[in-house]
Amino acid sequence: MLAQEVIRRKRDGQALPAAQIDDFVRGLVDGGWSDAQCAAMAMAIFLQGFSTTETVALTRAMTDSGEVMDWAGAKLGGPVLDKHSTGGVGDKVSLMLAPIVAACGGFVPMISGRGLGHTGGTLDKMDSIPGYQTAPDTSRLRAALRGAGCAIIGQTATLAPADRRLYAIRDVTATVESIPLITASILSKKLAAGLQGLVLDVKVGNGAFAATPGMARALAQSLVDVANGAGLPTRALLTDMNQVLGHSCGNALEVLEALDFLTGARREPRLLEVTRALAAEMLVLGKLASDTAQALVLVDRALADGSALERFARMVAALGGPVDFVERGTHYLVPAPVQRVVVAQRSGWVQAMATRDIGLLVIELGGGRRVASDSVDHRVGLTEVVGLGQRVEAGELLATVHAADNTHADLACARLAQLIVLGDAPTVVPAVLSQRIGL
Ligand code: URA
Repeated sequence: MLAQEVIRRKRDGQALPAAQIDDFVRGLVDGGWSDAQCAAMAMAIFLQGFSTTETVALTRAMTDSGEVMDWAGAKLGGPVLDKHSTGGVGDKVSLMLAPIVAACGGFVPMISGRGLGHTGGTLDKMDSIPGYQTAPDTSRLRAALRGAGCAIIGQTATLAPADRRLYAIRDVTATVESIPLITASILSKKLAAGLQGLVLDVKVGNGAFAATPGMARALAQSLVDVANGAGLPTRALLTDMNQVLGHSCGNALEVLEALDFLTGARREPRLLEVTRALAAEMLVLGKLASDTAQALVLVDRALADGSALERFARMVAALGGPVDFVERGTHYLVPAPVQRVVVAQRSGWVQAMATRDIGLLVIELGGGRRVASDSVDHRVGLTEVVGLGQRVEAGELLATVHAADNTHADLACARLAQLIVLGDAPTVVPAVLSQRIGL
C-alpha cells in the first residue's frame, strides 16, 4: 500500500494490519519511505496510539530488519539473559548485575546505549576503561561471552537498523515520548540480541523518563505485554529515581563505585537492593533458581565469594581492557584535575533532590553529550552525594564535584547547592522497589 495511505489510516485512528506495519519498516530500511513520511507516521502513532497487537507487529518487524543473534551454535551451557533500564542518574547497576548473573550460570550479552538526555549511558561508563572495546567483532564477543559469561557492548550496525533510522527521526520531531514507540525501540534491540529472558528496570521519579508511578506502570505493562507477545519471557520492576542511585554519577567515578561494590569495599544500600532484586529476577527467569529466595542466596554468594568480581575482571580483559583492572582501578581511571566539596549552608534533613538537573549538571561538567557528536570527559562528575532523608549539619558534605577546571567546578558547586533541598523535618523516603509487573 502507498505510504500516504498507511499514514492516513493511522492518522484517522484505525488499526493497522501487520502487513502495513511491515511496509512501514521496510520503507524505513530501504529508504522507500522519505524522512517526512516516517516522521508523519511516528506522529500519527504518537497521537493515535498503537494497540498491543500493532506494537508486537512493529517490534517483530524492527527486530527482523537486521541481524538476529543466535546463540544456539555457541553451546554456552546456560540461559541467555539481559536487563534493560529505562535510564536514571547514577544508575550503574548493569556493571554489577551482568557479572553477578554470569557467576550464577547465566550468559549476558548486554547491548547497551550511550547517555540519552539527562541520563547516563552504560556504554560511556565502560568506555572510561582504557583499551575496553565496546564494539567487538562477532568472534571476540562470542569468546568474551563464553569465557566471562557477560559482555557489555554497544549496538552494532547490523542490529535493528529500522530502529536506528526511526529513533533519529523521532529525536528531532518530538515523537520520542510515545509508549508504543519506546516499547518497540527497546524490545527490537533486545529481541535481536537473541535473549531467552529479559528483566526491565523501569525507573520512576524526578530523575526518570516516567515521572509518575502511573506513567511508569503504563510503560512497564506495555514492555512486558509486547515482549511476552513477541515470545520473550519478560518481567519488570518499578524502581525509585527520586535521587542519585548510589553515591556517584559520572562515567569513571561510577566504574570505581561498581568496583567497590564488587570487591565489597562499599555497597550503598539502595544500590545493593536494586541490584540484588534485578539479579534475582533474572536467575528465576533463566531457571537458574526456583524462586526469589533461592536466587537471592545465589546472588549474595556470588558477591561474597568474589566470583562476580572475577567475572567482571574476565570480561574487561576479554574485551581488551587491562588484565589487572579490578586490582588497580584507580591507577587506570585518571582522576579529574579539580575536586571541590559542596557543604550544607544550614543544618537539616535532605528533603528533595532535583535528580534530573543533577544529571544535566554532569553533562555541563563535560560528562555527557549536548549533541550526539560531543566528546565525553570520563573523569568528571559527583561523588559522596547525600541521600534523601539524611540528616546533615551546617558545614557537612553534600557532595564532591570532580571537574576539568576551576571554572566548571565553581559553576557546578553553586548549582548543586540549589539542587539538594534541606528542610526542618525528616522526610518520607520513597522505597527503592515499588512494584513488580509480569509473570
Ligand atoms: N531507549 C530506546 O532505546 N528507545 C527509546 O525510544 C527510548 C529509550
